[in-house]
Amino acid sequence: MADQSEIAPNAGRMQAAIETLAQLTTPEQPYTRRSFTPLYRQGREQVARWMREAGLEGSLDQAANLIGRRPGSDSGLAPIVIGSHTDTVPGGGRFDGIIGVVAAIEIARRLNEEGMTLNHPLEIIDYLAEEPSEFGLSTIGSRALAGALSPEHLRLTDPTGRTLAEGIAQMGGDPERLGEVQRAPGAFALSLELHIEQGPVLEEAQIPIGVVTGLVGIQRAQIVLNGEANHAGTTPMRLRRDALTGAAEVMLALERLCQATDGQAVGTVGKISTAPNASNVIAEQVELIAEWRSVDPALLTNLAARFEEQIRDIAARRGLHLSYHMLSDTEPVLIPQQVQRLLLQAAEALGLPTHLLPSGAGHDTNHLAVLALAGMVFIPSRGGRSHCPEEWSNIEAIAQGTHVLGQALLTFDRQERLSGI
Ligand code: GLV
Ligand code: MN
Ligand code: MN
Repeated sequence: MADQSEIAPNAGRMQAAIETLAQLTTPEQPYTRRSFTPLYRQGREQVARWMREAGLEGSLDQAANLIGRRPGSDSGLAPIVIGSHTDTVPGGGRFDGIIGVVAAIEIARRLNEEGMTLNHPLEIIDYLAEEPSEFGLSTIGSRALAGALSPEHLRLTDPTGRTLAEGIAQMGGDPERLGEVQRAPGAFALSLELHIEQGPVLEEAQIPIGVVTGLVGIQRAQIVLNGEANHAGTTPMRLRRDALTGAAEVMLALERLCQATDGQAVGTVGKISTAPNASNVIAEQVELIAEWRSVDPALLTNLAARFEEQIRDIAARRGLHLSYHMLSDTEPVLIPQQVQRLLLQAAEALGLPTHLLPSGAGHDTNHLAVLALAGMVFIPSRGGRSHCPEEWSNIEAIAQGTHVLGQALLTFDRQERLSGI
């Protein structure tokens, strides 16, 4: 049997795959491959071809997660799962999510090339729609696996009026049979995800490998304020019911609440639309999506309550009608010590320095952590930039991260049999 270090990835092959997916972008806004679009489907067809080339038995589950399976020598063992996502934010990057899928397929290829059979079955998953979709919901595929995709979620609509249930069906899933996707806790023996850090910590410390200690929880709400459209020149200031200035107050309220947490929480309004959106008409309606994040669940709950209270005050004071609707509430996750240790030891075995750090980004791992021992490996992001076209990670770093993931997977596969982990 091959020595563990022999599944060093083929960096050139990975680079080519990353470039191939990068070319599948909305031309006027690189790099954009939004979930539930034809371009996204095209990207996943490419991923499915790579899965087949890697000898994986590929299929879509009822939540339209794209899954490649590799049998283990002991089919009685729960599978190990590795993967990430291939959708992007609008005007995003070439690496967020993508490297996790490319790395997982590369690991399968290298196992084949070395003629290695794992004890555990292996599942490689391109999770459906990790980024906030046009339905307002993120991590849709992994949410379904964890049983956290509710009937209410399925009724969410995108700006064209399509429901999420319809979107899942168009992606090849079956929203009527989502119950079959849900896995029980323990259904996976281990879940690992390679991702870019998306922040400055590793680059500043000049450390190639980050081992994630925990992931933030994220709460998102849709807020719609309705006022009254009127003439911008003839309506005295005292008579206005301006939805847009009301929204400005809402955004500042969230900023102030999060600033007061001493770095324990962040909050953002990154999406806003207004109607009629004309320079000389007082805004009648504003819809915005607000989100706040922290690793502290009590703080998330407290922020949600105080934010909603302040929004209600703002709306009442300004004579605006308010509709407030929680879109999602994803719990923070602590990565178990034994998984952190597994990843640290894998990096050490390869002579790669490590740094422990929490994730400020949400990931499919937030949901996988409910089902399995779950962990994440980060690699440096140039300038700490992400969710923008400047997002960049060197192929050498991507290959190192992949190597650590593969090494950890092999160690776990053998040790768990011997002693449990
Ligand atoms: C995912 O990229 C997120 O953290 O929003
Ligand atoms: Mn992202
Ligand atoms: Mn991501």
